[in-house]
Amino acid sequence: MKQFDYLILGSGIAGLTFALQVAPRGRVAIVTKKDRAESNTNYAQGGIAAVTSKEDSFELHVRDTLEAGAGLCKESVVRTIVEEGPARIAELIELGMRFSETEQRSEDGSRELDLGREGGHSKRRILHAKDVTGREIERALLAAVSRTPNIEIFENHVAIDLITSQKLGYVGENRCLGAYVFDKKGNRVVTFSAPITVLATGGCGKVYLYTTNPDIATGDGVAMAYRAGASIANMEFVQFHPTCLYHPKAKSFLISEAVRGEGGTLKTLDGKEFMDAVHPMKSLAPRDIVARAIDSEMKKTGADCVQLDITHKPAKFIIERFPNIYQTCLRYGIDITKEPIPVVPAAHYQCGGVVTNVDGGTDIAGLFAVGEAACTGLHGANRLASNSLLEALVCAHRAAEKTFNIQHSTFNIQQIPVWQSGNATNADELVVVAHNWDEIRRLMWDYVGIVRTNKRLQRAQSRLANLQQEIQEYYWNFIVTADLLELRNIATVAELIVRCALMRPESRGLNYNLDFPDSNPDWAQRDSVVRKTI
Ligand code: FAD
Ligand code: SIN
Repeated sequence: MKQFDYLILGSGIAGLTFALQVAPRGRVAIVTKKDRAESNTNYAQGGIAAVTSKEDSFELHVRDTLEAGAGLCKESVVRTIVEEGPARIAELIELGMRFSETEQRSEDGSRELDLGREGGHSKRRILHAKDVTGREIERALLAAVSRTPNIEIFENHVAIDLITSQKLGYVGENRCLGAYVFDKKGNRVVTFSAPITVLATGGCGKVYLYTTNPDIATGDGVAMAYRAGASIANMEFVQFHPTCLYHPKAKSFLISEAVRGEGGTLKTLDGKEFMDAVHPMKSLAPRDIVARAIDSEMKKTGADCVQLDITHKPAKFIIERFPNIYQTCLRYGIDITKEPIPVVPAAHYQCGGVVTNVDGGTDIAGLFAVGEAACTGLHGANRLASNSLLEALVCAHRAAEKTFNIQHSTFNIQQIPVWQSGNATNADELVVVAHNWDEIRRLMWDYVGIVRTNKRLQRAQSRLANLQQEIQEYYWNFIVTADLLELRNIATVAELIVRCALMRPESRGLNYNLDFPDSNPDWAQRDSVVRKTI
């Protein structure tokens, strides 16, 4: 049993920001699945949206967020996050984050920050570190963590399940007491107890066959919270990024929306600019619209991909502004200064998640959720580009402050039992685990993708029910492995996505259903909320 004041699951921007805030107040454990930098954050390209220029305003950023969110955002949450953004950005810079700058000097002689543009934004407002913003954020935050006493990081540790008073059979309010965690290298399950547990486990892109997300993104936080009895909402709103590199050897490589922000245009394989007829913002329309237009073009023409063309820009500009995209594409034989980039949409971001208020509070006492794992109401039915890093920064900071004023649990931790696991091992079964992984990801891609129908959703639901039963009844006889834990989680999250999609009798934002092609005003302000009865 390991005992801490704060247990943080995840070492992306949300988990690290929270840790740095609370470390002066108590002992902090950060539990993370792989090495400490491996996270969605580490791969973020475009940047962080925040109002920092005189030409911009909070009102415009709020308006753009609400418009992208297709009527489902919580306006008070949007305002709080937008308005607190600049202060959090200033702190990040103070910690050592290096954003790209322009040649221009401001009144005090310092260089001005370079502002990028992305889909759905009416102004240039994206702070970035060339096209590797996330890598620079992780570097800066991890460096700050290493200078801060009181924080211990447990790498290669996979959280399995939350420990709650209700699961232990206690009556009264349901309270989180910590988590069971699988230590991959030690091959054992460790009990972590803490009065405050934070889910900062990120998103669930790996539920889909094609995704921009790295392997860690298996929706573990949402699945754990659901099993513990927390409310989960809006899981149907899976954001497909319009432009993932299409190449047989490239796994999950994103071509940032910032490329379109700098003038890149989407074209069919025969060179037609198809977005002109779709939206006034053309290739820079909100993501749901662009992804659907690409999907429709590909279906119409039978092509495997479309193209993103930025060759009209000077080569020097492209190489300096997008060094990572340029070099990566070159490794695959594509010189983006001379030829268009083949691209396809891929699952990118989970707009729904564990229901929280703007301070990260969930409906389980002692449990907070921040970052992509949470559903605060900022994104509504479709996230505005580069608003997620902003949300993670602001909400992790607020959640940390919130914990300073709450009454900590006095639960006697000796009452927490050790983890019980099955003993069977059978190498033959590993092939079944791999098969089920593939089956879930493929059926989600084929039946629960960019364009949905009720029939396909129902087919997915019945197949997922069988898979979940197999996983539950059969696999838990076996010893714990990371693959098995993740399989259970992607099955749970896939089922939640399908269930939420079936609950919503309309098309709105990212949930496009051919059986209900229009939005339904009765659902304009309704979240699709699911909760397990324990
Ligand atoms: P993450 O950064 O994903 O961190 C999750 C952490 O939890 C990881 O450390 C992981 O190992 C750990 N974890 C997960 N499950 C477990 C478990 N069971 N046990 C222990 N640890 C666990 N957003 C923007 O705003 N701007 C961008 O430019 C941008 N670009 C993007 C580009 C790409 C390619 C991708 C994939 C996403 C991008 N996003 C962008 C989205 C953004 O990066 C994420 O939403 C954000 O980084 C999420 O941060 P987080 O801290 O919530 O989660
Ligand atoms: C990108 O760079 O296109 C990703 C931005 C985001 O997901 O917000």
